Amino acid sequence: MPLKGIKENDSMRVVIQENYEKMCKWAADYIVSRINAHKDESRPFVLGLPTGSSPIGVYKELVRMNKAGEVSFENVMTFNMDEYLGLPREHEQSYWYFMHDNLFNHLTDMKPENINILNGMAEDPDAECARYEEKIASYGGIDLFLGGIGVDGHIAFNEPFTSLSSRTGVRNLTSDTRIVNARFFDNDPEKVPSQALSVGVATVTDSKEVIILINGHNKARALAATVEGGVSGKWTCSALQLHNAAIIACDEAACGELTVDTYKYFLDIERKERL
Ligand code: GLP
Repeated sequence: MPLKGIKENDSMRVVIQENYEKMCKWAADYIVSRINAHKDESRPFVLGLPTGSSPIGVYKELVRMNKAGEVSFENVMTFNMDEYLGLPREHEQSYWYFMHDNLFNHLTDMKPENINILNGMAEDPDAECARYEEKIASYGGIDLFLGGIGVDGHIAFNEPFTSLSSRTGVRNLTSDTRIVNARFFDNDPEKVPSQALSVGVATVTDSKEVIILINGHNKARALAATVEGGVSGKWTCSALQLHNAAIIACDEAACGELTVDTYKYFLDIERKERL
């Protein structure tokens, strides 16, 4: 069945931008166009959101556009992808703190009751995850999930070999991910929580549209696996190949491991898209 107002893609879209700033601008403009297209609906626009360094430029641009009156968040409901297990909201490295610091505190009309973030201090983490998945479903699912990607291709905290049909649940973090994220924890991997609550791969791929931000040389292997590799639990990002409205927004630096043919194909097809 065609998705209302959403163009299904014959192939995954890979939108290659010259640099990080342009990638973020492209993604923010796309998100704003989707929110604005939805504004006369009674149901809120349901937006899935990530943390990490990749989305920071997108959040800055969304804040700028919101303050300039180009987009309202009054009828937007958000669901974040993940949260560290055992970190309270007020911890500076909690994803609750990150989202308020980088986005929600700066929007003029975001309703606090429309913000959903998994509770890393829940007494029963499994029940918290089940409640989250049910709440997403009760709003008719996610309209647009914005995501980032780990160097090992994880989306949300779905590390390699997490089932591609997984739902929101507790995840063990790999040593690699704890080493990468140690930069936020005094460069000490041991200080990075070893577990997190995370939406599942299928929670992401069930959303009507997905945009994954992939930027920088260190994400080049992950981009190649997402676009050119086979669908495999080794690279959970590869599940996006089965989605009918998935967009990879990337910068030139992340394209280093794509074959020249793939790179040219997406530049060519996207140029036609704009005509
Ligand atoms: C964490 C998050 C992911 C995020 C990834 C990449 O592991 N759980 O959702 O995509 O980091 O972060 P960055 O954008 O900083 O590279």
